[in-house]
Amino acid sequence: MTGALREEFGNPSSVHHFGQQAKAAIDEARTDVATLLGAEPSEVLFTSGGTESDNIAIRGAAEALEATGRRHLIASSIEHEAVLNTLKAMAKRGWRTTLLPVDQTGIAAPDALRAALADDTALVSVMHANNEIGTIQPIAELARIAHDRGALFHTDAVQSAAKLPISVRSLGVDMLSISAHKFYGPKGVGALWIRRGLRVLPLLTGGRQERSRRAGTENVAGIVGMGVAARIARGKMADECTRLSALRDRLEAEILAAVPGTAVNGAREPRVPNTTNVSFDRVEAESLLIALDLEGIAVSTGSACSSGTLEPSHVLKAMGFNAHRAQNSIRFSLGASSTDAEIDRVIAVLPKMVEKLRSLTRAPVRA
Ligand SMILES: Cc1ncc(COP(=O)(O)O)c(C=O)c1O
Repeated sequence: MTGALREEFGNPSSVHHFGQQAKAAIDEARTDVATLLGAEPSEVLFTSGGTESDNIAIRGAAEALEATGRRHLIASSIEHEAVLNTLKAMAKRGWRTTLLPVDQTGIAAPDALRAALADDTALVSVMHANNEIGTIQPIAELARIAHDRGALFHTDAVQSAAKLPISVRSLGVDMLSISAHKFYGPKGVGALWIRRGLRVLPLLTGGRQERSRRAGTENVAGIVGMGVAARIARGKMADECTRLSALRDRLEAEILAAVPGTAVNGAREPRVPNTTNVSFDRVEAESLLIALDLEGIAVSTGSACSSGTLEPSHVLKAMGFNAHRAQNSIRFSLGASSTDAEIDRVIAVLPKMVEKLRSLTRAPVRA
């Protein structure tokens, strides 16, 4: 990235050699990102992150299909706000929208999708892995069902890309969103994979960058960073997946054993290897978050974008949990720097913390 900012600082649209160096750097990153997804480089569109990728997928595909009379959009009820709020915006502009229910394990059932699809459904968007509970949806099956009714299928793979092997062809989707900062690339850069030949209208109009699908001079340093992050993640993925899921499973098992009144939220399998979401009966999750933070342990309630709002998680509510359980839940995320010693430390401090917080409230502990 430093090289792209200092030495190869040309504008990739320029014909002179500085420009062509920058273009070559983008091409290399595009190949790395495509390889991560089992795709062709020409199918990769660089964006400013997962939010923009989701927006282009939904708005761009829906608007391209508008003339056909398909004005119905479906998404799961546990999507990230980048999808949910885009659907809300489309609803204000006259599109019909349906949110798919999920069961108590956080999975959208194929039958629920069959029931929601209509002759005028333009697009179905269901995330690959959920950002709060980590569970993985049966994307290949859902995509097949959507295609049988002539609808397009988009998946937000921001939480799973580079953590699990992904092949866009095996998933059978039409579009797939990823974000660099979820796999140690820089923030503010992402990509949307668009199946070759699929028409998607641009959100940004102007120059012809990114095959006229996203106008504006590229974020060269960010894109270079994303490419390198994709390459590194790909090389480490298999080992890291095994290491992290073992650490996560130990953390989970030890919390459940050491702290009464705890439960894991969502299906344990299939799940991304780095996430667990645990509810602590009679504990306000925000208070536990602050207590843990004071010990140098960073966790979250809900997604980072909505934490601080004190709203119970829409994901846990959609899974049928009451507001109490949703407000008692903490997400622990592990990553490249997580170690066994860190898990030991969480287990050393957490039970006493929970006991102390519970001593401040009166309701009985769940059996
Ligand atoms: C599932 C999911 N989708 C989309 C996003 C938004 O990505 P970005 O922050 O790169 O815009 C996030 C970010 O946390 C996410 O977890």
